[in-house]
Amino acid sequence: MIVVLNFGGQFAHLIARRVRDLGVKAEILHGDATLSEIQALSPKGIILSGSGHSVLENGPLPDKGIFELGIPVLGICYGLQLMAHMLGGEVKGGFVKEYGKETLDILKQNALFKELESKEVVWFSHGDQATQLPTGFEKTASSKSCELSGFADEKRKFYGIQFHPEVTHTVHGTNILSNFVFDIVQAEKNWKLADVSESIVADLKKQVGVDHVVVGISGGVDSLVAATLLHKAIGNQLHAVFVNHGLLRKGEVESVSEALRSRGFTGLHVIDASEMFLSRLKGVTEPEEKRKIIGHAFVEVFEKALSEELQKYPVKYLAQGTIYPDRIESAAVGKHADKIKSHHNLTLPEKMKLGVIEPLKDLYKDEVRRVGEGLGIPHDMVWRHPFPGPGLGIRVVGEITEERLRILRDADFVYQDELRKAGEYEKIWQAFAVLLPLRSVGVMGDARTYEYMIALRAVDSIDGMTADWHKIPQDLLERISTRIVNEVRGVNRVLYDITQKPPATIEYE
Ligand code: XMP
Repeated sequence: MIVVLNFGGQFAHLIARRVRDLGVKAEILHGDATLSEIQALSPKGIILSGSGHSVLENGPLPDKGIFELGIPVLGICYGLQLMAHMLGGEVKGGFVKEYGKETLDILKQNALFKELESKEVVWFSHGDQATQLPTGFEKTASSKSCELSGFADEKRKFYGIQFHPEVTHTVHGTNILSNFVFDIVQAEKNWKLADVSESIVADLKKQVGVDHVVVGISGGVDSLVAATLLHKAIGNQLHAVFVNHGLLRKGEVESVSEALRSRGFTGLHVIDASEMFLSRLKGVTEPEEKRKIIGHAFVEVFEKALSEELQKYPVKYLAQGTIYPDRIESAAVGKHADKIKSHHNLTLPEKMKLGVIEPLKDLYKDEVRRVGEGLGIPHDMVWRHPFPGPGLGIRVVGEITEERLRILRDADFVYQDELRKAGEYEKIWQAFAVLLPLRSVGVMGDARTYEYMIALRAVDSIDGMTADWHKIPQDLLERISTRIVNEVRGVNRVLYDITQKPPATIEYE
């Protein structure tokens, strides 16, 4: 097991994922975790992540005791700087920010740089630099604008690198991490998803015993995989509740129900509450208010299902599709970040007097998908893009009406269909259509039209926290646009969203 100490950048998850992809378990802890929290995980090695902070401006520092544990430490970017700062070297600011690909000169082919060339393409993102080596260290690499791009104390097995090996732009980044994990830490390969899946099932069996569990199905990948694992563990002690809030995509109720029933699910309760949701949303235009109405109505319907249809079963647990980044981020939210949008799926357990079970709590999204495939869930279903709990409710901008939902469903269907046919779908983190509540003038045959606009959103992302707009090939965009205006009644204009997150969010509300 490798512990990744997270100092606040977006990079800690990427590091942990890369280590897991190498077959070694990695866990993320806050950078300011106590020594006993770290020791409780019995790590064989520690990686210090990057950060937007500066050690010169009271940036977070780890417990100094990590350098006394007798285990290898790799400091990446900010991690290198804090090593210099804490171990007797020096860090200075005021340099021109180094950002992007650079050539690294490897001056010492040590264990970390094993089998690398003397010049390597690596990716930098920093302002501060280490200007003096910490005590007992020697320089191992440099670049044009950063003299101390790498240093090491091979006796204590402490390594610092100023660039990011975890991003794909660093051509041999994975080799560097692999050298650290296997040659230096000598970690065992013990993270294999088939085994992980088996041990989740065994743990669920033990935890649940003879009790019954209820799980909410949302149409998304996580709840589907969580439910399938639970079904494998406890069979008909599992009850799945699928609330149709009237804000699902075209054909979604049918395809998700079919995926579950064909896996031998007998306890699936599909509840059509669309009228209730739509009547409560009538006339409501403010995004947070819409989210709250949907969230509250959802809890109400769920509770009603428990007290009526499921009342005869001894239900003791609520299972949720929480995944590893959700846990780490909600922990972080408590500490630092402001809440940007309310997520209704997080409010359920607080209201219900049920124990919570989270079968996927240690897995990343791509691991969940691979576990899902291992369980035999259809490929298309497992590789679906994320879909938010409030569904199309936050993709019809402004007031939600039946007519607008119908238009959005049809347009989104065409969009997804063309992306899949062109093989573009799986290159994208998330793609969807949005209905803008604006109408503009068009011409169809001889007649003037006055109809809605559809915005197409497609983003590349690692975890949804930041995103870049995806460059869909122009001929494909043209096909999508032509089909939407020809086939979807009520639309005469299609726009393509070219904004990054931040400053825009992925969803529109
Ligand atoms: P934003 O719009 O905040 O979205 O950039 C980031 C990611 O989160 C998803 N999202 C949600 N997922 N319940 C969910 O389960 C929600 O209420 C919700 N709101 C946004 C969004 O689709 C994107 O993947």
